[in-house]
Amino acid sequence: MRKSPTVLILNGPNLNTLGTREPEVYGRETLDDIRAACAERADALGLGLDFRQSNGEGELVGWIQDARNAAAGIVINPAAYTHTSVAILDALQACGLPVVEVHLSNIHGREPFRHHSYVSRMAHGVICGFGSQGYLFALEAMARILERQEGKA
Ligand code: DQA
Repeated sequence: MRKSPTVLILNGPNLNTLGTREPEVYGRETLDDIRAACAERADALGLGLDFRQSNGEGELVGWIQDARNAAAGIVINPAAYTHTSVAILDALQACGLPVVEVHLSNIHGREPFRHHSYVSRMAHGVICGFGSQGYLFALEAMARILERQEGKA
């Protein structure tokens, strides 16, 4: 049997505090709740899952570099680094894997400094404003991207 392709889901700073962090903006689910829902959906889609969170830009960059040989695609919620990090953009660009960007909140309906994302430049697509459901949409989108890559669809 062929091994299922692994999708790396990366979460940036402060997302470890979901559940208590501004629940009116980010919802009441914890990151562990989101991890469990993603694991279930990945399984249903025939994908392997590696789900991680870091508050550090350097750690995220390292994980993106490692993904080149370990994952088939990356779903990323870079959190605040979305709006500041050329280092994360560069790492994503260099790793050569398909990327789907996700945000819990609708960043375009919020403060102007959240409207710009460095990552969007190279992402296949961006999903924002659907809360935790956005992660599931991102996995569905990634499954389709990977199928197309393999010439199945
Ligand atoms: C976020 C939006 C960012 O602007 C913010 O800094 C976050 C979370 C979201 O998921 O809505 O930490 O990426």
